[in-house]
Amino acid sequence: MSPSSSTIGHGGDSGRDTAAVAADARGNRVVSAVELAAHSSVHDCWVALHGKVYDFTSFLEEHPAGPESILKLGGTDGTEMYETVHNAGMLDDFEAELVGTFQP
Ligand code: HEM
Repeated sequence: MSPSSSTIGHGGDSGRDTAAVAADARGNRVVSAVELAAHSSVHDCWVALHGKVYDFTSFLEEHPAGPESILKLGGTDGTEMYETVHNAGMLDDFEAELVGTFQP
């Protein structure tokens, strides 16, 4: 088994006329509110925080307060809720979960 076999293909390579160069790398994409909204399940949970989109799918079960507090914000900008209990610095450990920049 190769680790690279887990690469996610979202399909579709047309329609992007800005940042065309190097825009496909994970963590370096622009995510719209519409795309974000499609990732709101326990199997696929993205949340926008402080202008960036994170894939928290595999973190849900690891979240010390349980999966629900994150899951209920899946597919949305959770910055406001997040800020009430956490600080932005905690996200430094989540570079690997970074999907891209949120552009609603
Ligand atoms: C959308 C993202 C997140 C949301 C909405 C969220 C929400 C919450 C909430 C509501 C609590 C309970 C606070 C309380 O009981 O006063 C909590 C606790 C906690 N969260 Fe998060 N969280 C998020 C992401 C994270 C991340 C990325 C980490 C990274 C380590 C994290 C670590 C923790 C820890 C350590 C606690 C404390 C648990 C405890 O007191 O036993 N959370 N979170």
